[in-house]
Amino acid sequence: MSSVAVVPGSFDPITLGHIDVIERAAKIFDEVHVVVVHNPDKHALIPIAHRVALIEKSLEERGIHGARIVINSWSVGLLVDYCTDVGATAIVKGIRSQIDVAYETPMAIVNRNLAGVETIFLLPDPAHAHVSSSLVRQVSALGGDVAPYVPAVVADFLKHTTD
Ligand code: PNS
Repeated sequence: MSSVAVVPGSFDPITLGHIDVIERAAKIFDEVHVVVVHNPDKHALIPIAHRVALIEKSLEERGIHGARIVINSWSVGLLVDYCTDVGATAIVKGIRSQIDVAYETPMAIVNRNLAGVETIFLLPDPAHAHVSSSLVRQVSALGGDVAPYVPAVVADFLKHTTD
């Protein structure tokens, strides 16, 4: 039986930190679903379909593709419903700081209570510990260079969005 995990997030936009987590998840699980989830608590910059396309191109750019990597979006219902639909037993998240632990812990417990889906926290490469989508959006909006933090295709997209 193959092991399936879901790496969910807003991915607004995908960063090198996200890619690090996806690469690590793919070393542990047979199949990894990278899922763009609508987060009603956040005002999104990039439409969901665009975020999916940027993930596809970014993972392609990094050589992370093939049948073991599925890229999807999920905007209606619980994340655990998606997990159940695809047979995923785990959600994988990156933890950069104590703030992430505080934010992620209640969601992990609720997801386990709802459907028995465990959450696995991975420590990212320290090189990416300070990278977040919100920081990237802010730097980009103010005309700064985001190339060190995101795949080239995302840097290019943001440059044209904010030009
Ligand atoms: O990248 P983000 O915004 O931190 O990702 C958070 C996200 C979208 C993964 C989280 O908000 C989520 O899982 N939403 C799905 C809705 C859901 O299932 N809620 C109930 C259990 S937490």
